[in-house]
Amino acid sequence: MGRREAGSLPQRLIILGPPGAGKGTQAKKLTEVLDVPHIASGDLFRHHRSKGTPLGIKASEYMNNGLLVPDEITTAMVLERIQPPLDMQGYLLDGFPRNMFQAQALDDMAARGRPVDYVILISVPDDELVARLSGRHICGACQASYHIKTAPPSTPGRCDRCGGDLLQREDDRPEAVRVRIRVYNEETHPMLDHYARSGKLVEVDGLGRIDEVAERLLKAMHLGPSVGGP
Ligand code: AP5
Ligand code: MG
Ligand code: ZN
Repeated sequence: MGRREAGSLPQRLIILGPPGAGKGTQAKKLTEVLDVPHIASGDLFRHHRSKGTPLGIKASEYMNNGLLVPDEITTAMVLERIQPPLDMQGYLLDGFPRNMFQAQALDDMAARGRPVDYVILISVPDDELVARLSGRHICGACQASYHIKTAPPSTPGRCDRCGGDLLQREDDRPEAVRVRIRVYNEETHPMLDHYARSGKLVEVDGLGRIDEVAERLLKAMHLGPSVGGP
C-alpha cells in the first residue's frame, strides 16, 4: 500500500476483533498508509516479558492462560503512550480497549484531548480463528506475524522484515486459544455496543486474503482502493 497525504486522514483508530482475527496483520498494513504509531497492548506485554520487567512477569501469569491482564496495569501502560499531547501524532490501537473499564478510561482521556476517529471490528468465525492461530509463527525480535500456510516467510523460520527467528506463541496452545475466545465473547464483545452507539464502529469481514481484507478496511474508512493511489 502507498502512503497517503496527511491532513484529512483518520489519525486515531482502534482495531478490535477476536484472537487471530488479523488485528496485528492489518494494523501493520494500515500504518504503511496512515503515518501513525501502531500500539498493540499484547506486543507491549510481550516486550516487557522478554525484558523480564516486573510488569512483564506479572502480565505473563495472565497471558499464558489466555486471561486478561488486570485493567489498572493495562490502562496505565497503554494510555501513557497516547495521552495528550501525544494524541496529536495519532495512534492505531490494536487489542485495546478490551472491556468497558478500559473503554471508559480511553473515553476519559480522549475527552481531555482529541476524539477517536474509527473503531474497526474485524469479524472472523471461530473455526477459522483456531486454524489461523494454530499455524501462526511470530518474529521473536519485531513481532511480525506469519502463517505457515497463508502467509509464509520467504525463508522458513526467518522473519522477512528483520531476519529474526520465528516462534509459536505460548498462548497459541489449543487450551489457551479456547480460553481466549471465551474471554473475548464474555468480556470484549459486550463492549462493542458502546462503540456502536457512538457511531464510530465499522465492522469488516475478516475472511479472505490479507490484501482483500486490507482493502475492505480502507473502504470502511472511505479511503478507497490503495493500489497505485496517492
Ligand atoms: P494479543 O496479543 O492482543 O492477542 P489476541 O487479541 O488474542 O490477538 P492475536 O494477536 O492472537 O491475533 P491478531 O488478531 O493480532 O491476529 P494476527 O494478525 O496475528 O493479546 C495477548 C494477551 O495479552 C491477551 O490474551 C491478554 O492476556 C493480554 N492483553 C492484551 N491486550 C490486553 C488488554 N487490552 N487488556 C488485558 N489484557 C490484554 O493473525 C493471526 C494469524 O492469522 C497469523 O498467522 C496471520 O498470518 C494469519 N492471518 C491474518 N489474516 C489472515 C487472512 N486474511 N487469511 C488467512 N490468514 C490470516
Ligand atoms: Mg495481535
Ligand atoms: Zn522480525
